[in-house]
Amino acid sequence: MKSPLNRPPLTSLLTLLAALALPCASAHAVDAEAAEKVTKDNKCTKCHAVDRKKDGPAYRDTAAKYRGDPEAEAKVTHHVTAGDMVKFPDGHQERHKKLKAEDTAEVKNLVGWILSQPGGTK
Ligand code: HEC
Repeated sequence: MKSPLNRPPLTSLLTLLAALALPCASAHAVDAEAAEKVTKDNKCTKCHAVDRKKDGPAYRDTAAKYRGDPEAEAKVTHHVTAGDMVKFPDGHQERHKKLKAEDTAEVKNLVGWILSQPGGTK
């Protein structure tokens, strides 16, 4: 015996899913084009690519490394603005490139873009 009351739960489930998906999408909204422009203007592209390792890690791997870390944004922001020593694959060390972008919104967008890369290459 199927009562018509069996129907509504599916509808409300879908409504709930839609409601959950929306804020999620906006929280991760980054301007990818602007972020990529910053990486080109600052020559980050010389050592980094989104999905393959060059001298530096792929941004996807950085995103995977920090997934679930509540301090991810702060750590990566520090990394791209502080110029700390980093190790290269051949073993030598040098100061990491400092971002020239002064506009903090630009840095925030870039860091958000890096951290939002899906997957990881490994
Ligand atoms: C001359 C090469 C070089 C350039 C240019 C460069 N990087 Fe890197 N980057 C590296 C290396 C090498 C590492 C790995 C550091 C390590 O693992 O100790 C790294 C690491 C990183 C990481 C990972 C940090 C972490 O905590 O895991 C991010 C993010 C990053 N770089 C972003 C950038 C951005 C953004 C730029 C442009 C402003 C840039 N890099 C320019 C070589 C470079």
